[in-house]
Amino acid sequence: MAVSKGSEPWILMVTARSPTNIAVIKYWGKRDETLILPINDSISVTLDPDHLCTTTTVAVSPAFDSDRMWLNGKEISLSGGRYQSCLREIRRRAGDVEDEKKGIRIRKVDWERLRVHIASYNNFPTAAGLASSAAGFACLAFALAKLMNIKEENGELSSIARQGSGSACRSLYGGFVKWVMGNDASGHDSIAVQLANESHWDDLVIIIAVVSSQQKETSSTAGMRESFDTSTLLHYRSKVVVPRRILQMEEAIRNRDFQSFARLTCADSNQFHAVCLDTSPPIFYMNDTSRRIINCVERWNQFEGTPQVAYTYDAGPNAVLIARNRTAASLLLKRLLFYFPPSPDTELTSYLLGDKSILEEAG
Ligand code: DP6
Repeated sequence: MAVSKGSEPWILMVTARSPTNIAVIKYWGKRDETLILPINDSISVTLDPDHLCTTTTVAVSPAFDSDRMWLNGKEISLSGGRYQSCLREIRRRAGDVEDEKKGIRIRKVDWERLRVHIASYNNFPTAAGLASSAAGFACLAFALAKLMNIKEENGELSSIARQGSGSACRSLYGGFVKWVMGNDASGHDSIAVQLANESHWDDLVIIIAVVSSQQKETSSTAGMRESFDTSTLLHYRSKVVVPRRILQMEEAIRNRDFQSFARLTCADSNQFHAVCLDTSPPIFYMNDTSRRIINCVERWNQFEGTPQVAYTYDAGPNAVLIARNRTAASLLLKRLLFYFPPSPDTELTSYLLGDKSILEEAG
């Protein structure tokens, strides 16, 4: 039984922050919809936690009579299978918690009965193809695990976050991260592993062009289900193309080989959007501005003779641009601001970047 010294109902809280991640070799397609098991490995880069992150506070108190959650200040339902899976998996692993100062003792068995309140904030547009669910579920799993004193072993936390949203498992680590698809039907081996930490390749600069902050028409979940059912290209990609690309990408990251990294990143983004077009009915995540940004980057890379910038687009029109270094980032930003000034005409609303001084350099 959970106890406290005083008679007042107590409250225990934990706050955590998780960054989002951007896939350079994409996850698209599930072999198990409930456990969220993918049909191929994927690789991502985790963004700087100061930008594009979710902050989540989780609280437990005997005064709470139901699990409740607020996203950006608005209450949302927790009845969905994904939230329920995460809460169930977390509670199953919960440990004893003791807060001597507050005189609170919670036994493992109490967690089944105690209810939690969750408040989560995104500092970027939700569901606009900026992987908000990735940061969201990673943060939720992490904060609840801290609250319930769960020891993280063998990527177990990533496998819980995965059951909230596939890409979320990769946000539990910084730097370059691989989500290993695994073979087991139970999903125990479908976990994220860190390939290299954030300091391994810190020349890279990421700039995000927010082409639209509108909610996307087709969610990733629905889109990849439709692709799985109707696109032959998706199955060819997952069996033949991705396994090869994963090895090449791992090597490019290991060697900090920007030329290979950029070639693979752009090719994989383009193939992912080709799969979307190969889906019936076709899915259009990119718009004219997204495509014009691709052209601009391709032309510049060709002109330079060696790639300066890689582009990648998730399930939305926003461009994620990875520059080889600060100089390239500053030049890129100059070009972008010239050709795509944020305005209603270009549909482009803003540029998001980790290091704002590059914006000053670009003038
Ligand atoms: C295009 O992880 O959002 O961003 O597992 O159904 O929640 P669910 O999908 P989600 O899909 C992300 C797809 C992607 C590529 C990627 O992040 O690898």
